[in-house]
Amino acid sequence: MWSGRFREPLDAVFEQWQRSFPFDVRLLPQEVAASKAHARMIAAAGILTDAELERMIEGLDQVGDITPEFAPLEPGMVNPRLLGAELGTTPRSIRRWLSRQPEFNESHVKHTRILLAKDDPLLLRMKNHFAIQANLNLDGDGACEEFPATTEADVAASMAHAEDIHHFVELQLSKVIGPLALKLHTGRSRNEQIATDMRLFVREAIDATAKGLRKWALALIELAEQAGDAVMPSYTHMQRAEPVLVAHWLLAYVSMIERDISRLTDARKRMNLCPLGSGAVAGATLALDRAIAARELGFDGPTANSLDATSDRDFLLEFTQALATLGGHISRFAEELTLYATAEFGFLDLPEAYSTGSSAMPQKKNPDFTELLRGKSARLVGATTTLAVLMKGLPLAYNKDLQEGQEPVFDAADTVRGILGILPGFTRSLKFNFERMRTAATTGYLNAMAAATYLSNKGVAFRKAHEIVGNAVRLGLQSGRELNELKIEELRGLSDVFADDFFDAITMEATLDCHDVMGGTARARVRAALAEARERLSSFAMAQV
Ligand code: ARG
Repeated sequence: MWSGRFREPLDAVFEQWQRSFPFDVRLLPQEVAASKAHARMIAAAGILTDAELERMIEGLDQVGDITPEFAPLEPGMVNPRLLGAELGTTPRSIRRWLSRQPEFNESHVKHTRILLAKDDPLLLRMKNHFAIQANLNLDGDGACEEFPATTEADVAASMAHAEDIHHFVELQLSKVIGPLALKLHTGRSRNEQIATDMRLFVREAIDATAKGLRKWALALIELAEQAGDAVMPSYTHMQRAEPVLVAHWLLAYVSMIERDISRLTDARKRMNLCPLGSGAVAGATLALDRAIAARELGFDGPTANSLDATSDRDFLLEFTQALATLGGHISRFAEELTLYATAEFGFLDLPEAYSTGSSAMPQKKNPDFTELLRGKSARLVGATTTLAVLMKGLPLAYNKDLQEGQEPVFDAADTVRGILGILPGFTRSLKFNFERMRTAATTGYLNAMAAATYLSNKGVAFRKAHEIVGNAVRLGLQSGRELNELKIEELRGLSDVFADDFFDAITMEATLDCHDVMGGTARARVRAALAEARERLSSFAMAQV
């Protein structure tokens, strides 16, 4: 790809180590799409004839069809193709070596693939074997060139050579359409290619994340609707504060989700510009109509500056920041549920389908899912931290450091995709113990605010009302009674503003309904908020975020 200027071969171990192919192979669909767009752009500039363009597009489509080869395997399986690339040897030599091992049997073979479970001892032995070969600079079996020219073998051969996904597609395209493939690189650079591929990847990941978030929000809304007028304590400083509707509590998470969706859609708008035509750093050396490629790839237009376009990774930073923030929201939800599922709270029964037992203590039901949710948020913060540190102080324009920005983004996107695949179903299966929640909300003087409000509505200054109710609470504490169990004479001893209507002002219903402001927990307000949330979340769907 670039050996023209070099006389010495690369150090073999370094050569393997610096490759991005083992992880950027997943950008194959994006790389093919971007290459097709580039081909159309250079054809319009007269570099390709119509017939050549047609052949090139067909060839690229064929290369794109190799995708299933790289499709993720069942969890816990290893694909020798990818492993071969990683270890710097061919799948064929891996197969040959494997077939000579005594433990190797038919259970390892599926269709045309060899599959090894991640914990198969053969895998470790194989890794050792080939890694040692690589260290000894034996460079696989060196036989890839002699492969018969079947597609499968071609793929295998170029995988062993491919430095990155850009290189791989070019090698593959040469196999399919011959020397014409070499024209594809006219007027472009890998620096703009990787910037484009990553933008395409993030755009798709944003859409998938927003969809998943909407599903979770709808699950929370469903749960809130089912909760009706059920109440629970709210907490400040983790001390019981005031009663709220369970629906009100659940809607708090819907608000967070809506901000997360808006953060993602906002980042999407900003990143939806096409770097193609930026060249290596200073712009393409051909008079390209960059709007062609931008349009072809669904971008809003071309990027404005070639130095920036080839070195900008703000969109990775913004994307991972948004994921870290939403990971934090998920983690708070997970933490509350973990707490509420304890015997001490007893607000909910953990769904068995998402819990595990303890191998030591037979009575245990552990909240593994919510604990893992809390834990996963840490790696999302890790991803965005990596990106922030990576970008800080990096001179313009492209630097190879940027290659390190890919894996955290893939990991963060996969992590969130995994979580959002489970969270809506889990949320729907939650069963609350509304009795326990109500008991917790009706004890501990949670209506003290409502009591103070009663006095202040009767003209007592709030500070004074606060003090009077404080005295009433002390009275109750001394005798083990709630405010509604105090006698009117006792209360009048504290303030002659107290009258018989006091007791109606501190019932559960009155305590809720005195928060009759927008965003408050009055029953009518929550009902309206719930209906509005459902409305908004459904329209998110229609807008196809
Ligand atoms: N694999 C590289 C990356 O991810 C592609 C760009 C390489 N460009 C270069 N000039 N070496 O950043």
